[in-house]
Amino acid sequence: MRNIVLTGFMGAGKSAVARELSAMLGMRIIDMDAEIEKEQGMDISTIFARFGEARFREIESEMAKRVAGLAGAIISTGGGVVLDARNIDSLRVKGTVVCLMASPETILRRTSSSRHRPLLRVNDPLAKITELLEFRRPYYENADLVINTENKTPRQIACEIIESLKWKL
Ligand code: S3P
Repeated sequence: MRNIVLTGFMGAGKSAVARELSAMLGMRIIDMDAEIEKEQGMDISTIFARFGEARFREIESEMAKRVAGLAGAIISTGGGVVLDARNIDSLRVKGTVVCLMASPETILRRTSSSRHRPLLRVNDPLAKITELLEFRRPYYENADLVINTENKTPRQIACEIIESLKWKL
C-alpha cells in the first residue's frame, strides 16, 4: 500500500488528521518531527537554538529520505519539509502527497498554545504566519491533493482524503 504523506503549515492539522486516518485505515503513523527528536535526543526548539534552522533542514532532509522508503504508513511531515523539492520528490516515490491548508487566523488559533514551534515565537505571530504562508504557498501546492481544512473536523478531513484517494491508495 502507498504511503499517505501529509504536508501543510504548522497548525494545519496534520497530526490530528494523521490520527483519524490511522484509525480509519489501520495504517501506522510516522511523525517526522517526533522521529527527528527521538534520533537527535532533543526537541525541535533545542535543535533550532543550538544548531540553527539550516542544520535542522539538513536533518529533516535526511529523515525524509529515510521515511520515504517505508510502505503503508501515514507520514506526518514538519511544515517546512516542502521547501526542498527533493524532499517531496523522494516522499512521492512511494506516497501520495496531501497538503492541508488553513487561513493565517485559523493557524494562529491552532498554534497559540504551542511552545514547540520556534519559528512562531515572535512579537507578531499573525504577521509571521501570513508572510511565511504566502512565501510557501507554491511549495505547498506541489501536492497530489490540496485540502481546505477551514471549519472542518479532523474526521471530516480524513473522510475527504479517503474519498479522494480511493483509487490511488
Ligand atoms: C516547521 C514546522 C514544525 C517543525 C519546525 C519547523 C516549519 O513542524 O518541523 O518547527 O518550518 O514550518 P509542524 O508543522 O509539525 O509544527
